[in-house]
Amino acid sequence: MSNRTEAIKVAPNDAFHIETVLWVRHWNEHMFSFAITRPASLRFRSGEFVMIGLQGETKPLLRAYSIASPSYADEIEFLSIKVPDGPLTSRLQQIVPGDEIYMARKTTGTLVTDALKPGRRLFLLSTGTGLAPFMSVIRDPDVYVQFDQVILFHSVRRVSDLAYRELLESKLAGDPLVEDEAREKFHYIPTVTREPFPRQDRITTLLEKADLFDGVEGDHVLDPVHDRAMLCGSMEMIKDCAAILERLGFEEGSNAKPADFVIEKAFVG
Ligand SMILES: Cc1cc2nc3c(=O)[nH]c(=O)nc-3n(C[C@H](O)[C@H](O)[C@H](O)COP(=O)(O)OP(=O)(O)OC[C@H]3O[C@@H](n4cnc5c(N)ncnc54)[C@H](O)[C@@H]3O)c2cc1C
Ligand SMILES: NC(=O)c1ccc[n+]([C@@H]2O[C@H](COP(=O)([O-])OP(=O)(O)OC[C@H]3O[C@@H](n4cnc5c(N)ncnc54)[C@H](OP(=O)(O)O)[C@@H]3O)[C@@H](O)[C@H]2O)c1
Repeated sequence: MSNRTEAIKVAPNDAFHIETVLWVRHWNEHMFSFAITRPASLRFRSGEFVMIGLQGETKPLLRAYSIASPSYADEIEFLSIKVPDGPLTSRLQQIVPGDEIYMARKTTGTLVTDALKPGRRLFLLSTGTGLAPFMSVIRDPDVYVQFDQVILFHSVRRVSDLAYRELLESKLAGDPLVEDEAREKFHYIPTVTREPFPRQDRITTLLEKADLFDGVEGDHVLDPVHDRAMLCGSMEMIKDCAAILERLGFEEGSNAKPADFVIEKAFVG
């Protein structure tokens, strides 16, 4: 990003914050995380997304990104794909601390507990970068007040795609606001579908086999009476998981009409 700071900047307008990159962590050749400064006026709900980007030729080049940090966090964190010829991420993957990022003022999204009816177990079903909004939800202390168990599934192609694996396997150890609750209530269920790994089934197969629940208390079949779910991944994954949940009697919710499960695509295409 060496010449980015010299680029002619669009004058900041009311729609955007211009924030500074604080750190960058590359997980592998496909994914990286980074954090930017938090604008004082930003308010969002854990699980929401926002438009972010870089200066383009004449105007900011923006894409939708889930915020991976919880609503109270001092820094705003993101988990990003690296699309080799992607208009934004071919450049975004080169950011370094001190670079500037555009961020829209408005956040939105359906992967929020407000869009779910009260329940006992919260299932977070993700593939690829669909993990991002759930990194926000699981680090929010309120979710452990609302649910007895929070069960995160992350399905990826390769072992190295398991971003945040160490933190998740540790049950968020070291996070002062949630580590005590998470030790009791949080469960991480990674699955790797194209390399040897202890669990290799797709989430859909795990749901069908009712084989989800290493260490998770209660029924092995999801029940709309007390279970709630959030889905984030490719369109196919969402479609297939939603069909299974609907067969089990789950109803899709929204901010306007909270129900049993909510969906959001992790990317378009
Ligand atoms: C609601 C919403 C939330 C999103 N949140 C995130 C997020 O938290 N992290 C993130 O990396 N992306 C996220 N995306 C995707 C993001 O908006 C961009 O598509 C992505 O940053 C690539 O931008 P690009 O300009 O490089 O390529 P684009 O032209 O946007 O995409 C090119 C192609 O790359 C593939 N692709 C794009 N994004 C992904 C992805 N995340 N995973 C796998 N394949 C992908 C698709 O096939 C797409 O057609 C989200 C999209 C939506 C709609
Ligand atoms: N390591 C990599 O090769 C890699 C990593 C990241 C991104 N990318 C690139 O980014 C794009 C998308 O990446 P991605 O990793 O998010 O891909 P993805 O194809 O969505 O795969 C992610 C995980 O979702 C599973 N999955 C796919 N469709 C599903 C469905 N209908 N129901 C349930 N589970 C489903 C996959 O299982 P299956 O393996 O069984 O399909 C895999 O475990 C690809 O075009 C790829 O080129 C590649």
